[in-house]
Amino acid sequence: MDNRLSGRPPAWAAKIAAVRDVGVWDTNLLRCIATGALASALMACGSDANTPADNCEDGDNCETSDGTSGGSGDSGDATGSGEDGAQAGDIPCEVQEVLAANCTGCHSDPVKFGATMPLASIEHFRVPAVTDPTVSVADLTLARMVGTDRPMPADSSLSDGDRGIIEAWIAAGMPGEDAGECEGVADDGDDPWGPDTLPCEPDQLFLAHNNGTDEGFNVPEVSDLYQCFAFDSPFTDKTQGIAWAPVIDDERVVHHWLLLRGDETTQTGTFPCSAISLDAPMIMGWAPGTPNFIMPDEAGLELPGPGEKIILQIHYNNSAGHTDAIDSSGVAMCTTEEPREHAAGTLWLGSLQIDVPAGGTQDVVSDCDTSRLDEPVHMLLSWPHMHELGSAISTELIRANGAGSEMLADVPAWNFYNQVYYPHLPAVVIEPGDILRTTCSYDNTTGQTVNFGEGTGDEMCFDFSIVYPITAFDVPNPFGPAELGRYCVDFGEDIPFP
Ligand code: HEC
Repeated sequence: MDNRLSGRPPAWAAKIAAVRDVGVWDTNLLRCIATGALASALMACGSDANTPADNCEDGDNCETSDGTSGGSGDSGDATGSGEDGAQAGDIPCEVQEVLAANCTGCHSDPVKFGATMPLASIEHFRVPAVTDPTVSVADLTLARMVGTDRPMPADSSLSDGDRGIIEAWIAAGMPGEDAGECEGVADDGDDPWGPDTLPCEPDQLFLAHNNGTDEGFNVPEVSDLYQCFAFDSPFTDKTQGIAWAPVIDDERVVHHWLLLRGDETTQTGTFPCSAISLDAPMIMGWAPGTPNFIMPDEAGLELPGPGEKIILQIHYNNSAGHTDAIDSSGVAMCTTEEPREHAAGTLWLGSLQIDVPAGGTQDVVSDCDTSRLDEPVHMLLSWPHMHELGSAISTELIRANGAGSEMLADVPAWNFYNQVYYPHLPAVVIEPGDILRTTCSYDNTTGQTVNFGEGTGDEMCFDFSIVYPITAFDVPNPFGPAELGRYCVDFGEDIPFP
């Protein structure tokens, strides 16, 4: 396929323009993500935005939002439910606050980012669960908030105190109260995101589309789809990315996306693809809650040059079965032809030394020793990755000067279906000699030994980290030669890649 990006085809430009035209959409969407969609925030997402009409075509979401808890339904069509909708039957403020901080960024009404159902009214908790109608959403909520099997939220960020508040409320039979506008639920203080909030004019767009057309991608009704969209790189050898913004079109079904680097062997067009492949290193990505990314003035992001490809990989989750999901999500990017002082790129941390016995467990620890560096490096993002038998993963920064250690990423209960990444803003400075220790834990529930590999039945242990200057790593590392400096990965005997 031709590179259809730099020309900015009218249909896509229109999409971007549409996003820009409703500036309120970005602001409110962010607020919804940051604070959840209850009370006034719910109305901000539901009424002021241009999105509900689309979302409501689906039917389910509209019905549930209208049928909420007796009270909020009638005020649901007015903008000020917070002010005039204070009626008996709202979720108590204390609980709303917890849901807003932990759940309704995704479980809003309508839902976002692949979440299965809303958690925005008492009724939403009472109805049968989508994936298991023999239990209520409330029961499934109790189950998913504890335990290590696919915890909610996926980054295990729910505190015991917050969990206790939801548990106690459900145990008490989910009583309603005349909540009105709850303090602490709406939060206006966050920065908005989206292309029109970038400090620069985006000059590149990489968006989902159907093969050979500019139209949005028809998202099938499946729960986990990794779909790749490959584009010929429009960039020169000198081009760097300086800022980018997510374009989230059908937010009901977009779970997260990654921008990957492909070469001339990469398939063209649009195709289903595996979660991560060694042939396609990560450039950067987006997950719910991640705002625009603006590189510090001294650094620019390395991008694929002439002859290479850019792959937009979107993880869709349409387990709710929306039949009208057509998506043009992706990224809007500002680039420069005048390279900045430092190039940023992806440092791979982790190990291939995975050997989990049948029915057993293994902790794989790999230390990336940075004493070979002759200058500090700045880390902007961590993105841990394992497959389905992973149970926990973390990267710890251990200071050389005895100044202790800090966690750069910590996922105590790994959920393959809900991979989270961790921006570091401001950047974490790594001094030469510091150790980056990545630990991957596996629980092998199968009857075979499991080793490293790219198949779904194989395992991986990586933490893709965006750092600058990435060139600082172009020196031999404890694990391999200079050309593999950016792969601070315990390869073992053989070096199977890149
Ligand atoms: C970042 C987005 C996000 C946040 C925050 C989040 N969830 Fe989820 N939730 C999802 C997604 C995506 C799914 C579907 C995939 C899955 O089941 O893991 C889901 C599924 C669920 C399910 C299973 C529903 C079913 O029918 O199978 C429950 C229950 C749930 N979440 C409860 C919660 C609760 C309670 C919170 C807050 C304490 C929360 N979630 C926070 C995205 C989120």
